[in-house]
Amino acid sequence: MSGILTFTLAWKMKGQCYKDLPLEELSQAEISSLQWMREEEMLAHDVYARLAEEYTVPVFQNIAKSEMQHTTSIAGLLERYGVEDPAADHVPGKFSSPEIQSLYDQLVKQGTSSWEEAVKVGLQIEDMDIADLDKAIAEQVDNQDILMVYNNLLRGSANHMNAFWRHASRNAIDWEPEHISREKLDGILGYEGK
Ligand SMILES: [Fe+2]
Repeated sequence: MSGILTFTLAWKMKGQCYKDLPLEELSQAEISSLQWMREEEMLAHDVYARLAEEYTVPVFQNIAKSEMQHTTSIAGLLERYGVEDPAADHVPGKFSSPEIQSLYDQLVKQGTSSWEEAVKVGLQIEDMDIADLDKAIAEQVDNQDILMVYNNLLRGSANHMNAFWRHASRNAIDWEPEHISREKLDGILGYEGK
């Protein structure tokens, strides 16, 4: 296949929208997953946006923008299915889920303590995000539109993990994943897609 054709096909696949897929019956597990992921992606955005105020290195500002796209894409699914959006009236740093609120408070405290801890916070968030998306895809979700969005989010998270890992490597920061396996991390760090 020629390079140009490969590029065109890849572009078309990327251009495919979940709205082109049929609306399927939504299970309770899918509702819970969507509401959780909506706030988890918002958590990532808010933590990175807060850390971008502390550190001039552009990684946090850049990834915060991507996280806003992630959470917005889940809001689109909630709207599509007429499910209550837990972040409909979102105020930065405030969450409906007590668990996510507690994570936000702890991650901001950790990340604002030093640059090294901030980089670890980025790695920790992506570790948790990837594990939650993997679990949702494997066990909780079967609607094609949700799977498409979650797989896009996974690709984004793999890129974010690589970005934070580069900073960790440059600064000799030791870190091990808690939620995904070391083998899984190694695979992600070899991932060069977009
Ligand atoms: Fe991310």
